[in-house]
Amino acid sequence: MSEAEDEPTVLVVDFGAQYAQLIARRVRELNVYSEIVPHDITAAEVADRRPVALVLSGGPKSVRIDGAPELDPDIYDLDIPTLGICYGAQLIASQLGGELSRYDQGEYGRTEMRRIAGTDASLLHDGLPAEQTVWMSHFDAITRVPDGFTAIAETDAAPVAAFESVERRIYGVQFHPEVGHTPNGMAVMEQFLWREAGCAPQWTMGNVIDHAVHTIRGQVGTGRAICGLSGGVDSAVAAALVHEAIGSQLTCVFVDTGLMRKDEGEQVVETFRRNQGIELIHVRAGDEFFDALAGVTDPEEKRKIIGEKFIRIFERAKGGITDAHFLVQGTLYPDVIESGTKDAAKIKSHHNVGGLPDEIDFELVEPLRNLFKDEVRAVGAQLGLPDEIVWRQPFPGPGLGVRIIGEVTAEKVAILQDADAIVREELRNAGLEREIWQAFAVLPDIRSVGVMGDERTYAHPAIIRAVTSEDAMTADWARIPYDILEAMSSRIINEVSGINRVAYDITSKPPGTIEWE
Ligand code: XMP
Repeated sequence: MSEAEDEPTVLVVDFGAQYAQLIARRVRELNVYSEIVPHDITAAEVADRRPVALVLSGGPKSVRIDGAPELDPDIYDLDIPTLGICYGAQLIASQLGGELSRYDQGEYGRTEMRRIAGTDASLLHDGLPAEQTVWMSHFDAITRVPDGFTAIAETDAAPVAAFESVERRIYGVQFHPEVGHTPNGMAVMEQFLWREAGCAPQWTMGNVIDHAVHTIRGQVGTGRAICGLSGGVDSAVAAALVHEAIGSQLTCVFVDTGLMRKDEGEQVVETFRRNQGIELIHVRAGDEFFDALAGVTDPEEKRKIIGEKFIRIFERAKGGITDAHFLVQGTLYPDVIESGTKDAAKIKSHHNVGGLPDEIDFELVEPLRNLFKDEVRAVGAQLGLPDEIVWRQPFPGPGLGVRIIGEVTAEKVAILQDADAIVREELRNAGLEREIWQAFAVLPDIRSVGVMGDERTYAHPAIIRAVTSEDAMTADWARIPYDILEAMSSRIINEVSGINRVAYDITSKPPGTIEWE
């Protein structure tokens, strides 16, 4: 069931997952709730959802090839304001009787678009210059609009860069209003949503919280819920939201694996138990993990041991809460889309420590199911979670266990924690923390010779890994300025005993992965 079921909803029809997600996020940035639906949704299903507007996304295919995804044509007769973007615009043109043809070169990148004479009254033009820069990415061109439609903008290469039927409330834009390279793109979407579709900007984080609290209370009633905290932003916000709704009926379990970043365990306890007043079971299990990992060097074996141990300890801890019927999970909207829509690319699945045990005898409470990551952060901030948690970078379930190459020992963890803390602190001081997807230190299983003062040293190197990424599927090594790398290096060598050399990893993904194991 949708948490935002009675919220006026824009349905974004998915012709290519990445495009659809970006559009859905932009609609929400304009404070209108949006959901992504697969392109084979039927007219009856759309009518049933009673959306305030439809947006047809762009997509990687050509409308002109056999088997190109289409829209149930009856949807166009439902009198729902509709905006087609790129592929979506071409599809409208082609399904309603216009013409497309293939370009030799296509249009790609920043393009000057002009208003067509006599179309000044179009609502998509309102308040915008007669000529503007837009971002294009297409090979097919619309050469004739369907009967009853008017071409309202053109470029040197495309006779129809935007078109409309005011009567049918259908609009098409060949350019991408959802990308930052189209400076007036949000204004175009705003005109469509607010003026044509009559949306009110009411999807705010305050409303999201009120709504979620109401829904959680309805689901849980007087029951008890438990939540596994990993220290990451998703489980943290889910817990805070559920606590807002049901207070002391929630108990959190935090399994401290001893493989977390420096002071992270303490910070989780401080934030949740002391500041938020949440009942928290803190299991200090470091020794158990180190015992289980003794002598183990194979990365996959390490992951397996850590994952299994985690589940056993979590089960043991939650066994003490015998009357809990609900389990809180921090599932996000992209996870829901990825497991649910036909066009989304498959993502690599990780064993997520803190994730679901194999057999579940709980009913799930998933208060973030409809939210994108940026919305989750905004909710977390509004609920009073500290920046360190709200803006925490992704961290692998097996923690530092997969950043220590070779055998994991308490001593190596302590060395790595200190080096890692310096990497992140220097980045934060330089104001770069939020631009970088992940930055951390890795401790390889080698030693090298150095000299410090008059002494020969023989110690580990630390490897700095910092990447930029949109979604962790691909990543590039971050171009951190030399002076910041220099500060990291000299501080690590001077302050962390056990390290005498620092290297920077300049491998992108692929062919590398973000983590070293
Ligand atoms: P790789 O190393 O495959 O990592 O490029 C991609 C992203 O996933 C994170 N990661 C994990 N997350 N459990 C998790 O919850 C895991 O076992 C795990 N392994 C890697 C990694 O930090 C990066 O963000």
